[in-house]
Amino acid sequence: MAESNLMEKIVALCKRRGFVFPGSEIYGGLAGTYDYGPLGAELNNNIKQYWWKTFVYKRRDVYGLNASILMQARVWEASGHTEGFTDPLVEDKVTHKRYRADHLLEEAGVDVHDLSVGQMGEKMRELKLKSPDGNALTEPKIFNLLVEASLGAVEGEKEKVYLRGEITQGVHVNFKNILDSMHPKLPFGIAQIGKAFRNEIVPGNFLYRVREFEQMELQYYVKPDAEEGKRQYEYWKRFSMDWYQGLGIRKENLRFRQHEEHEKAHYAQEAWDIEYNSPMGWKEAWGIHHRGDWDLRRHEEFSGVSLEYLDPDTNERVTPWIIETSGGVGRALLFTLLDAYREDELGGEKRVYLALSPKIAPVKAAIFPLLKNKPELVAKANEVFASLQSQVPSIQFDDNGNIGKRYRRQDEIGTPFCITIDFDTLGEKPELKDTVTLRHRDSGEQERLTVLEAAQRIQSALS
Ligand code: GAP
Repeated sequence: MAESNLMEKIVALCKRRGFVFPGSEIYGGLAGTYDYGPLGAELNNNIKQYWWKTFVYKRRDVYGLNASILMQARVWEASGHTEGFTDPLVEDKVTHKRYRADHLLEEAGVDVHDLSVGQMGEKMRELKLKSPDGNALTEPKIFNLLVEASLGAVEGEKEKVYLRGEITQGVHVNFKNILDSMHPKLPFGIAQIGKAFRNEIVPGNFLYRVREFEQMELQYYVKPDAEEGKRQYEYWKRFSMDWYQGLGIRKENLRFRQHEEHEKAHYAQEAWDIEYNSPMGWKEAWGIHHRGDWDLRRHEEFSGVSLEYLDPDTNERVTPWIIETSGGVGRALLFTLLDAYREDELGGEKRVYLALSPKIAPVKAAIFPLLKNKPELVAKANEVFASLQSQVPSIQFDDNGNIGKRYRRQDEIGTPFCITIDFDTLGEKPELKDTVTLRHRDSGEQERLTVLEAAQRIQSALS
């Protein structure tokens, strides 16, 4: 299968099966926005729960937080985003389509390292660079990615605010609140999941680059000491990679890549990405940044509030350094789907299935009566469904079409188990009474088990 074809197949599957829909679709869409359908919402939640379990519940040193999306404009001045959160923008003079100047130059083989916007303009003129549609381009200009909004009831007196460009700052402005309420000792972390907004010049590649997305982030505060900073940085790099592999993504499709000097965000002393081997090439999946004391120092400066940590053992006041590990939920969902997509033949028939890890699969099990026109089978299947519903999250009842079609449907959405209620369940063969068939998605193999055994089998796969 051609790799680009794979992306198209995933986009089509997501729409057809209720994972992801284009945003504002019946009004012609809104670029860079997507809505999660029933299965997408489930998959999205499962990824976030897996993250929260790993980064918060399994740790003694991490606190959860849920900060506001709307923040004072001063926060973004302090964090450096009003100044430094920018991309170089050019526009096609005929179609008015917008492009990233650095991307066009890179595609033309230019090394954009350390080029200022002015120098990019010079290079573009020198190369007589045209837009992908063959038209002249405007001079590159700096474009800020923060999304502006205004608050207040009276026109003319409205206050300019920004939708958060990263969820990070909600954590750092609450650093003192966490110190005062939870009394943590260094090192400790604050974890958060939430929406971020970016006025991306060129959103694209489905969920890969969008304008509204969710991030999962840990801000880990450490002693301001070079050795400790290095140790913690390496630790969280490995920890993040282990988590990403735990999504079920094949190890060979993930790698680390260090940011070159010119790529680093304004706050980062050191930056590494976890990259995924996608149909668009190796692409950023996750970022691990050494932010030093940038955020706390700047918020202290701009707010006038001390954000120092008082070491209870030495009575020393320090401004901690921050190691950040940050990733997008939508990107994790997209890469997981791309990696899980399989086409094969089972029982002489072609099929598509998603080899999703049971812990994140949107539907854990589907219950079928063998025939839908036999009331005794349907009644028993409903009974089994009700009893399993209290033990297994997210199960489906399906009596549409023949059994083969139901398997195909469940395979295509990645349901790891299907349970069929047949005449033996009802006692046609007395020794098999109250047993069901449990079918495994990837192999298509079936086993005969009691309902209790089937439930245990599913639960152990989920844990
Ligand atoms: N607080 C650090 C931060 O925001 P980032 O590298 O800009 O760092 C972190 O973003 C992660 O958020 C990325 O690795 C990616 O997974 C996700 N992300 C960033 N921009 C995105 C976008 N436009 N669409 C989807 N996900 C995005």
